[in-house]
Parts: sequence; C-alpha cells; structure tokens
Amino acid sequence: MERIAVLTSGGDAPGMNAAVRAVVRAADAAGIVSYGVRNGYAGLIEGRLEPMDARAVSGILHLGGTTLGTARSPRFRTTEGRAEALKHLDLAGVDGLVVLGGDGSFRGADALSREGSVTVVGIPGTIDNDLSGTDFTLGFDTAVNTALELIDRIRDTAASHGRLFFVEVMGRRSGWLALYSALAGGGTEALVPERPTDIDVLRVRVQRSFALGKRFCLVIVAEGDDAGGAYEVAARVCEGTAVDYRVTTLGHVQRGGSPTMRDRVLGAVLGDAAVTALRDGADGVMVGQLRGDVVRTPLETAWSRFDRTPEDLLSLMDRLSR
Ligand code: F6P
Repeated sequence: MERIAVLTSGGDAPGMNAAVRAVVRAADAAGIVSYGVRNGYAGLIEGRLEPMDARAVSGILHLGGTTLGTARSPRFRTTEGRAEALKHLDLAGVDGLVVLGGDGSFRGADALSREGSVTVVGIPGTIDNDLSGTDFTLGFDTAVNTALELIDRIRDTAASHGRLFFVEVMGRRSGWLALYSALAGGGTEALVPERPTDIDVLRVRVQRSFALGKRFCLVIVAEGDDAGGAYEVAARVCEGTAVDYRVTTLGHVQRGGSPTMRDRVLGAVLGDAAVTALRDGADGVMVGQLRGDVVRTPLETAWSRFDRTPEDLLSLMDRLSR
C-alpha cells in the first residue's frame, strides 16, 4: 500500500475530523502518502483529490462537522458514477480508500470495493448510532451530550411551570439518540421508531407521572417515530384535555459542535485501525470498537444489519420513569 485516500460522506458527525487526522498521520507514520477527497463521493467522481501530509490535518481535531466536506451523491449510486470515481483513484495511483459515514455511505463503499481493485475500509461516522459492528459510532456521544444540555434547560422551564414537554430529537429510523437522551435526561418516555407507540398508553403514563407528584414530564420523541414527530404526538396525546404542554424540536443543532473526549478518542483509534486494515489488505470491511476491542465487520453486515435500540435499556427507561 503506497497511496491512500480518505473521504467523509452522508451527514456530518462530530469526530470525523479527528478520524481523518488519525488516518493521515497513521499513514504518514507508515510511509504511506494520503489524499483527502473534497465533498465525499460527489468530489471523488469529479476527481477532487488533494495530497495531505501530517501538517495538513493540524488544528482540526476539536472541530465539529467535516473540514473535507460531505455531500449526498445520486450519481454515485449508479455503476457509471462509481466507474468514474474508480478512474480518478486509479489516475492518482491510490490503492486504498477510507470512507467515513453511515449506512448509505457504506452501501456505496461496498459496491466500490466489489467493482474496483481499490481496497476499501469504512469508519462508522453518524450521530444515529445504528450500524452493526461497533458499540458506538463517531458523533453519537457528542450528539447525545448536545441534546442533553438543551433538555436540561427545557427541564428548568418544565419544572418551574409544572409542564408537560415533548422534545423531538433526530433519528429518522433509529431511536438511539432518543433513548440515551431520555435515560440521561430524566425523561418520562422515549418514543423510538423501533417500537410501536400506543398513544392511549402514553397518555396514561403522562397522567400517572403527574399523579405520582412529579412537577414536570418530558417525553423525548425520535423524529422517525411511527406515531409522528413531537408536534403530532403532543396533539394526539393532549387532544380533548386541558393539559398545558409545549413542544420543542432540537433539529440540526445536534449534528454540529466540538466532539467530546469519547468521539475524539474513538476517531483516533478507528482512524489508525483503518490504516492498519488497509495495510493488511482487509477489503470491504468497517473498523469498529466492541467492548473496547477494535474489530472488523464486513461493510455489508454493518449497513444491512440495522442496530436496533436495546430492549433492556428501553425497559430500564420504563422502570425508572416513575
Ligand atoms: O445524520 C443522521 C441524521 O441526523 C438523521 O437522524 C436525520 O434524519 C438525517 O440525518 C437528516 O439529515 P439531512 O437533513 O442532512 O438530510
């Protein structure tokens, strides 16, 4: 392995820069030349590869977002688009590619590894934490902590007024953010896409919460919950009642921001592990961390075996919210 390229794809996630830095510096330490690809797969199709040395990644460790840029590229989903991308890697003499992203990005990385001769390794980078083969994805810890800081503020107001709040967090198909935010933020309920929501049961739980003498009630709703977003859920739960409720949607504030210690360290570990995997010729795998160990999982497994929110934590949530 003499030359590698690294790109970030899909939704940005805090810790991506830490991982890019680690990839470039681990490669540098092994005498491998690195290229950074601007704007993900879209940039790869356009041949936007730039040489990066150890100094080129100085001062990015603590930054949120991705300094390489990212994009969603419909063209890359076609065989022709991927052939164009492979052509540019070939022209630059790149024999290894590191892709940071989530399930959609890994689907593309998987196809690229099958269709070309380049060795492809993935690093899990998404605030959704929904990939198999790693306990946590890059960005999840920061996103939960951001949501928590905001939920703590909402709790101040909820407790002061004795109110019911519905707070919507991100997660189009995954409830990890909702569950962890609720568990760590003292929520009464976490509504997640993986578990059907029964509005009547939820209404009873909310009423019971106030009947138990609680001053406030927080319901954390994943944006992709089957009962709808926070506004819809709130309207249905409170329909025909005189309950004084408010709704807050956190939205994209959860995606940005300086990565936490955990996301910086995970970025360092997985960036280095990706370079080791490339040097070992491990093609079409994602590097992740399970119970402290670095592991390699086929990209196809990582993106296709959706990692559901754990049932044990959902029932713990139910037991503690009383
Ligand atoms: O990064 C993952 C995620 O935050 C999902 O939870 C969310 O549904 C989606 O990205 C929204 O992304 P965008 O607004 O960039 O399309």
